[in-house]
Amino acid sequence: MVRKIRIILAFGLYATNLRCSISNIQPTSHGKTWWTQREDLSRKRSWNVESPERLLYKQPSATRGGSDVMAVTPWLAPIIWEETFNPELVDAIYKPMNLTIATTVFAVGKYIRFLGEFLETAEKHFMVDFKVHYHIFTDQPQEVPAVNLAAGRKIFVHQVPKLDRWQDISASRMQMIQTIIEEQVHREADYIYCQDVDAKFHFRWGAETLDRLVGQIHPWYYDLSRDQFTYERRPESTAYIPSGVGDFYYIGAMFGGTVEDVYRLVKKCHENIEADKAKGIEAAWQEESHLNWYLLHNKPSKVLSPEYMWDDQRGKTEVMRVIRLSQILKNYGEVRENV
Ligand code: GAL
Ligand code: MN
Repeated sequence: MVRKIRIILAFGLYATNLRCSISNIQPTSHGKTWWTQREDLSRKRSWNVESPERLLYKQPSATRGGSDVMAVTPWLAPIIWEETFNPELVDAIYKPMNLTIATTVFAVGKYIRFLGEFLETAEKHFMVDFKVHYHIFTDQPQEVPAVNLAAGRKIFVHQVPKLDRWQDISASRMQMIQTIIEEQVHREADYIYCQDVDAKFHFRWGAETLDRLVGQIHPWYYDLSRDQFTYERRPESTAYIPSGVGDFYYIGAMFGGTVEDVYRLVKKCHENIEADKAKGIEAAWQEESHLNWYLLHNKPSKVLSPEYMWDDQRGKTEVMRVIRLSQILKNYGEVRENV
């Protein structure tokens, strides 16, 4: 039985103080210096929730929340839905922190066609008034559209090879995100969010999503039982999750958090993908299966509701008050390299 938990406004902000246990993944392959610096930064970071003195906002109720949805996980990480937070208050707290948020998108092969709308709509809704670094991975750098960016926002283009199978393009993202953190992002950003490019923003996608390790509930699985989740079910795979186990089915099209925590995640998933490859195994949903394994064993400190990456193929369901970002309708036969 799931007890509906009423939320307290702004609870999520306090939860940024939570340090969930992290599995024992020792960084090895990267330079010690930058990792040590990032670790120091993460220890020193002040997560004080400083609210501006005269900011007026609706009084939070200790007994009545604005929502009937589940707003906290059993390990006490907030689940972010519309009306569980006050956007003005969140912005007033986070904007003075002078944060830089990196975001990665992969526009490889025919997926380059989605990049223009992704960027244009992101400029309207994604982390507005924050410093954003878009890291675009593509095999066609000359096709990256010119988009007007607000002050403090930048585009970095990284050339990558075009692989023949969409499954390989998808799975290779973990390694490429690892590399870009090692080479650049660790010096420049506080947070990093990794998103699919075949999507469009419609509504605020803001600082309420910031946290240490952030996963997002898949729009097709939020109302199904864990045994229906499309986890990897073969014990030979490092992504194996047995039946009777699992919290949520997380979408591979959106994950994020602090640079340190996302680095641990992508590094471990990349290692596991390679270990599987050596045995001739490809997980059911490539890096999404490995992400699900990782987030089962390393609980996210914040979970995003399906509002943060919906799927236009699924009509808006009753629980959804808003759709912030959504994968657009497409003909997979046409846009994928192979079927
Ligand atoms: C689909 C989605 C895939 C994968 C799959 C998992 O809806 O398009 O990318 O997430 O669900 O079952
Ligand atoms: Mn997609």
